[in-house]
Amino acid sequence: MTDAKAPTATADANPGFTPRVFSGIQPSGGLTLGNYLGAIKRFVEMQGQGVETIYCMVDMHAITVWQDPEALRRQTRELAAGYLAAGLDPTKSILFNQSQVSAHAELGWIFNCVARMGWMNRMTQWKDKTSGKDAEKASLGLFAYPSLMAADILVYHATHVPVGEDQKQHVELTRDIAAKFNHDFKVDFFPMTNPVIEGAATRVMSLRDGTKKMSKSDPSDAARINLTDDADTIAKKIKKAKTDAEPLPESFEALADRPEAKNLVNIYAALAGMTKDAVLAEFAGQGFGAFKPKLADLAVASLAPISTEMSRLMQDPAEIDRILGQGADKADAIARPILEKTYDIVGMIRSRR
Ligand code: AMP
Ligand code: TRP
Repeated sequence: MTDAKAPTATADANPGFTPRVFSGIQPSGGLTLGNYLGAIKRFVEMQGQGVETIYCMVDMHAITVWQDPEALRRQTRELAAGYLAAGLDPTKSILFNQSQVSAHAELGWIFNCVARMGWMNRMTQWKDKTSGKDAEKASLGLFAYPSLMAADILVYHATHVPVGEDQKQHVELTRDIAAKFNHDFKVDFFPMTNPVIEGAATRVMSLRDGTKKMSKSDPSDAARINLTDDADTIAKKIKKAKTDAEPLPESFEALADRPEAKNLVNIYAALAGMTKDAVLAEFAGQGFGAFKPKLADLAVASLAPISTEMSRLMQDPAEIDRILGQGADKADAIARPILEKTYDIVGMIRSRR
């Protein structure tokens, strides 16, 4: 079992391109345990490994659905506080919000002209969000969302993108866009980016329904653990999580038809940095009455310090803005030359450079 291993960015995937890590999270609500285990914890593990790491708050993606302006500002700072509290270090990683680096939007437009309508129509996230006639009311930006995401990644020539399982299709589309651009313009300019979907919890499920993803937009707050939940709330939510009456088995395969049980074991493994089989070796034969309090203790021990640190950081929004501004300058310095070269490849005159 390799599932407790830290994710890595290896040099061999794209010969000719320097390995570089990019990822982003939408500031469209509070952070959940799913965001933490599926994304942020792994962002931290990839930091300081000799490969440049760039982590973004994708505010332009957030406005593809309505965001109250004040709430968006607060959520962007809260997401930045979450990044910092979880261990991202602005001296080791570039941290910024997307709208401050206009190269994202500019390359996004070029990619809107490379990507095809049919490709966007096939995105499961688009289909899920716009079933039936809802598509008529969706913003044009929501449809083009994956094209801007490809620009986020490729404007840095990023080779590795740590994400949760739900984003795999979007990263594959990023490769399709890169390949079509390279082919249309007869260049080898954009790398074939790899999604890095590793770790024990690339898909954390709802605490109320083990077949649904844990999401910041779930109407039931009991379905998720928020990084801003206090120790008491975390413990209560875990104790109330839906489970079954069977004891835990010896192997993970035996949990195939027990989605809720499987999810809790997964969460335990991810938080403890253990393999799922090692967790089961410890708890086999025990019921949830014994397992849940242990999981609650582990979750509180792992998450409460993050939530305390987030509240502390949120008391100084000017400091957060300063960090994001500095990150944006560094990001811009990498993105701008790649964007200028792209304009040149496409045939645009850039006489004011
Ligand atoms: P989002 O909140 O949709 O912007 O997602 C930000 C990152 O968190 C992406 O890499 C997602 O794949 C990841 N993520 C969100 N929810 C989950 C979940 N329930 N389990 C694992 N990863 C998740
Ligand atoms: N679509 C991602 C999500 O909802 C967020 C995102 C936007 C992203 N741009 C990105 C993730 C670039 C990785 C790389 O989770």
